[in-house]
Amino acid sequence: MRSHRSGPQGPAVARPGWLALARVRALAWGAAGIAGAMLAACGGSSGGGSAAALPGAAGAPAAVASAPPPSSASTLSLAAQVGQKMFFDKNLSGSGTMSCASCHDPAHAHAPANDLSVQLGGAHMDQAGLRAVPSLRYKDITPPYADLLDNPDGISVPGPGGGFTADGRADTLAAQARIPLLDPIEMANASSADVVKKLQAADYAPLVAKAFGDKVFDDSDAAFASALKALQAYQLEDNSFHPYSSKFDKYASNKIGGTLTPAETRGLKVFTNPNTGNCASCHYQGAGLNGSSALFTDFSYEAISVPRNAGIAANNDLKYFDMGVCGPLRTDHAPAGPNAANSFCGMFKAPTLRNVATRGAFFHNGVMHSLEQVVRFYNTRDTQPELWYPTVGGTPKAKNDPGFPTYGLVTTQYTGGKVQKYDDLPAAYASNIDTQLPMDGRAAGSAPPMSEQDISDLICFLNILSDADTQPATPAKPGACTN
Ligand code: HEC
Ligand code: HEC
Repeated sequence: MRSHRSGPQGPAVARPGWLALARVRALAWGAAGIAGAMLAACGGSSGGGSAAALPGAAGAPAAVASAPPPSSASTLSLAAQVGQKMFFDKNLSGSGTMSCASCHDPAHAHAPANDLSVQLGGAHMDQAGLRAVPSLRYKDITPPYADLLDNPDGISVPGPGGGFTADGRADTLAAQARIPLLDPIEMANASSADVVKKLQAADYAPLVAKAFGDKVFDDSDAAFASALKALQAYQLEDNSFHPYSSKFDKYASNKIGGTLTPAETRGLKVFTNPNTGNCASCHYQGAGLNGSSALFTDFSYEAISVPRNAGIAANNDLKYFDMGVCGPLRTDHAPAGPNAANSFCGMFKAPTLRNVATRGAFFHNGVMHSLEQVVRFYNTRDTQPELWYPTVGGTPKAKNDPGFPTYGLVTTQYTGGKVQKYDDLPAAYASNIDTQLPMDGRAAGSAPPMSEQDISDLICFLNILSDADTQPATPAKPGACTN
């Protein structure tokens, strides 16, 4: 299942320049050769962690929709109808208060309603998560993970790609659903049999029998497998998981309402320009796998070395590193020993950027909380690393120099000391870090790839990737995205 080049890519939406763009990435990878790509593309970054007591983390997740949006049911298969009931069923948790929708709220593009780095869960709703909760939208085309997945751009060399979760450890949506149901820090059911018992007692048990047969509850393992398939069917079939209702979709199909403003048009150029944003080289917007297009991901894994999030409880243990594909949550690509060579350490999935402007926490560890911060991180990780990573051994200045930026994760200026760049990946794996623009490893103090205008335009563009039923986390300033 891993080589669906869907035909040499006329970008699904034929806009000049996209093919050229895809080529740039191919060149970048080609230069390193396949082995190089395997190494360079695995990178690593920041760690997961558990949700910690962050401001606002008190207790249960924010109130979310407890029922699906109206409209959807009639076209769903029986299995998907069961999945829909399950998705909103709080009884399917150890605490009795948490459903899939508690973390994946349909009113927030199937992502959390709050901006916490990680959510609380568990039998008593007091266990901090290890990673930020992703949106569940536009995941239906995701192929299973492979170390050498063909890149959907049809040109880049194969590399790690596909799969569900930030490290690709689940091959299907059904396999993925097992994780939250049984994880003691999430829905915290005691066992799969425990889940099945709750299903059997649910008011929709007759629907389960109708979908999977009268004997469905006779064999607990088979019943659990059917339940996982039901959740998968719901996510695959229900339009709310892939509405394609953004302004970008209207633009791409020449529909009314799809005319980009000058700012959005410039932002699209920054997004695809290999010399500035270069975002599209990983968040690929052309024709993808299985007839898809414009998913804004090529399903690949890279190490971009997001800063460590001290707000995640697991990170209190300084020996704990969430290294993505090489573990510890994923276990089949683990290093042979501490610091043994491993090209997968630090790699995380390049997620779709659809609905990204609706999010309150970014990257696998949720360390950033605004889109502007994310874009500025891409722009200045290398040129001003002191804004993103801690400085040790220096003296904090009593007063920052005029003009010292306040948008970084570090807002204190230091005299002397050393910046701990890439602080969430053991030094042994630093060579795994990707070196494509906009983070090409250029020297500290040199000019960043994007101008202030580029940044503002790019954010305007990212905002048009939001579905019609969503709200932006940070509304644009009036007029900012017009001219
Ligand atoms: C406590 C919060 C929480 C609950 C409840 C929860 N999830 Fe998630 N979900 C997460 C987190 C965190 C991740 C990212 C996991 C990772 O990267 O390892 C995730 C990832 C996923 C993914 C993978 C998405 C991707 O981008 O690959 C799917 C699919 C998913 N969840 C479905 C579900 C379903 C179905 C349920 C209910 C059975 C559910 N989740 C319940 C927190 C939650
Ligand atoms: C080399 C590949 C690559 C390039 C180039 C790239 N990204 Fe990413 N992007 C990633 C990966 C990998 C992640 C996930 C990293 C993590 O979770 O630690 C990511 C995550 C993100 C996220 C967080 C999404 C979320 O749901 O948390 C945003 C936003 C984002 N990228 C925007 C951009 C923009 C804008 C650009 C261009 C300026 C860009 N990216 C360029 C690979 C890339």
